Parts: sequence; structure tokens; C-alpha cells
Amino acid sequence: MGISYSSLQLMAESGAGLVTSKSITLNHRKGHPGPVTAEFEGGLLNCMGLCNPGIKEAIDEINSFKSLCNTPVITSIFGISAEEFVMLTDYTNNSQSDFIELNLSCPNVRDEFGTPLAASASKVNEIVKAVKSRSTIPVIAKLSPNVIDIREIALAAEEAGADALCMINTLGPGMAIDIQTARPVLSNVYGGISGPCIKPAALRLVHMASSVVSIPIIGMGGITSGEDAIEMLMAGASLVGIGTAIMEKGISVFNSVNEEINAYMKEKEIRNIINIPRVEKHR
Ligand code: DHB
Repeated sequence: MGISYSSLQLMAESGAGLVTSKSITLNHRKGHPGPVTAEFEGGLLNCMGLCNPGIKEAIDEINSFKSLCNTPVITSIFGISAEEFVMLTDYTNNSQSDFIELNLSCPNVRDEFGTPLAASASKVNEIVKAVKSRSTIPVIAKLSPNVIDIREIALAAEEAGADALCMINTLGPGMAIDIQTARPVLSNVYGGISGPCIKPAALRLVHMASSVVSIPIIGMGGITSGEDAIEMLMAGASLVGIGTAIMEKGISVFNSVNEEINAYMKEKEIRNIINIPRVEKHR
């Protein structure tokens, strides 16, 4: 939901237990020109292109948010090298952020920066290690679904000291075509896929990663209902994230998901979310 303190505050006041900022880079970025989103049946394509005001302004917004809300905030940062991630970490250390998320997996800036870092276990390991050696707050590695073996990448992050994983980032990328003009809908032609259609892939990847790591996983990808959230917890996530569902359901989605999880737990006489049963690990 962006960077502004007021949009973070709106989410926190609408039932989100924790909020994540849009990924922030060292310097301001305009992002791609429009159209940057395309809806289709089952989900959404986006090619935002990391539009953000740069770390200095973004930190001001996060600090303003924290002066108004007790809700923990994850500051998401995006860099192209360990050095850049460390510079961004120095800014987050001097802020009210509660956690840092390393966005190692934005699919929309490939032309500019090449293959996402999360495609390489050794790069993930190098960057997480560098940030961990500097960060004063817990570090979350956001992984890409677009890899051959997620276990290798998840283990590389854990071995480097990541405190948690966040997965999955958008799938694909994919494309949509306007048949009247025979042109791509998105300005950047391709865009990351999110929404209900990616849930089965997200569940599988969280299940596979949670079968090999012992750090917690924030599971996301197509979560729209309490049932989706419970599936994600059963797959092995400890927390569940919501993004695209806000487009379909509005900000009431946080409360409706919370209520539906509570109703399920009541029905099953489960008192603590930790006690929701987990699917057997992948062998
Ligand atoms: C963008 C896309 C992502 O999937 C992400 O995780 C962060 C940023 C973007 O294009 O701005």
C-alpha cells in the first residue's frame, strides 16, 4: 500500500497486525509509466518498477507512522549489491522500523538490474550475511517463487542468519494483451502475477521451504479469506500476508480474514494459532 504513513496507518487501523512498506531504494525512483497494473480473472499483473521516494523520505514516513501507531512495521529495502543493502540498513537502523525485509526478488526491474538476486543461493547468502552483520533489528529475506529449487535458496538465507523468510513474491512474470490494439496492456510488457491464481504455487513453495528451515516464514500469495490463511499456516507459515486481496475486497479484508480464522479456531477448539495443525513436511 505504498510508503505514506497515512496508508500504513489505515491498514493498521483496519485489522492488520503488522504492516510492510513498499520496497525502498537509496534514491527516488519514478517507476515505470502507466499502465502498471492489469487485472485478469484470477489475479493481477503489476509492473510498478519500484516507484518510491528514496530511503530518506521513506524513513520519515515510517517514523511518522510509528509516532501514531504501535503496530510493528517491516521496512522493505531493495538494492542491487551487498554494499547498497548495507547502506540502506544503516538508514533503517536509525529509524523506528521493527524489522527489515530484504527484497531480493522484484521481477519488474530485470531490464535495468538483471536476474533477481533471489535466483542465486550464493548471492542471497552474501547479502543476508552483510545485512545481518550491520542490522540492529531482525532481518527477513523475501524470496522469489521463480526458482528451480526453493529449498536451496531458503537454506542459503537461513545459513546466513536470516531471522525469517517472506514468500512468495509475485510469480512469472506474465503478460496481458489488448486484442483491439494487438499490444501488451502493461507499459513494461511483462509484470509480476499476484492474486488467487498464485495460491497453489505459494502453498507448495512455503511447504517446501518450511520443510527444510527452522526460521519462521511469512506466507503470502493469493490470500483472500480465512480459509486461505489457514491453508497457508498449515503449509508451514507462521504469519500470513495480504496484498492483492485489498483490490477485490477493500481494506475490510484484514478484519474478515481475522474473523474467519477465529471462527475456525473456535469451531475446532484451538486456542492459539500455533496449535493449528501443520501438514507433514515434504520429504
Ligand atoms: C515491485 C514488485 C514486486 O513484486 C516487489 O516485491 C516489490 C516491488 C515493483 O515493481 O515496484
